[in-house]
Amino acid sequence: MIVESSPARTRELVREHRRGGQHIAVVPTMGALHAGHVSLIEAAREECDCVVATIFVNPTQFAPGEDFEKYPRTLEDDLARCEAAGADLVFTPQTSAMYADDAQTTVVVSELTKVLEGAHRPSHFDGVTTVVAKLFHITEPDRAYFGQKDFQQQLIIRQMVGDLDFGLQIVTCPIIREPDGLAMSSRNRYLSASQRRQSLALHQALTRADELAREGASAGDIQQEMRQILGTAPGVKPDYAVVVDATTLLEPAGDQKTVVALVAARVGDTRLIDNQILQLR
Ligand code: PAJ
Repeated sequence: MIVESSPARTRELVREHRRGGQHIAVVPTMGALHAGHVSLIEAAREECDCVVATIFVNPTQFAPGEDFEKYPRTLEDDLARCEAAGADLVFTPQTSAMYADDAQTTVVVSELTKVLEGAHRPSHFDGVTTVVAKLFHITEPDRAYFGQKDFQQQLIIRQMVGDLDFGLQIVTCPIIREPDGLAMSSRNRYLSASQRRQSLALHQALTRADELAREGASAGDIQQEMRQILGTAPGVKPDYAVVVDATTLLEPAGDQKTVVALVAARVGDTRLIDNQILQLR
């Protein structure tokens, strides 16, 4: 496995693989890798010839006051996980190599970014789409792997890829969870033992949502029940709990069968998100 921090050299290394007829996969991450990230690299390994993982804590997607400074940086451990999962190349750029002082361009997806995470974290997704566009240009992949964990993020990236003719396929992989149901996240390590227990309310709300959907409940009733569960869970401050159309993130039409339940909440200072696709009857 090669570790490379230069964008130009990374592009050249990937092009060498492409000239050999190989299919290229990219798995963008911010490091602090866990089994969720590893599952993306393993899926890429199964489906492509050359697997590029990227590790970059992207400053432009953090707002002032968010956790950019304290975001866990565990490069040595991350590289071991990348290697074990079968990555061929890991791109680990410095901030100065990604953002020139005189840069003037931002990639903005206009509508999908207005709701949910976008409403609670203004400018977050502009940072995400801009850095992901850059990572796509540097690695020129055939396929890019993202987690369903960040449901809105993968939708926004799909929109960008279509709108800007990136000509690559986005693959969305399932959410990997801890044995008790908590969705794996680099931010889970901020939780104290009691907060860790309280954070299970997110998964409980989604499990109940799934149960209700199977029993034939409406989107509105499911949403209300999730709000009730999160609103009364000790130590949990919900930002939102919604059941929405899984492609527009807007209120589902009456005859819509496939919808997504999305939740976000603060447990102490830690902001957690989770989601579950539901089939309404
Ligand atoms: P990061 O939070 O490191 O996540 C990298 C990828 O791992 C994302 O596609 C995310 O959805 C996926 N992932 C995280 N937790 C997961 C889990 N429990 N199961 C499955 N997949 C999971 O998302 C980002 O970084 C950044 O915004 C990035 C796209 C790298 C741009 O900076």
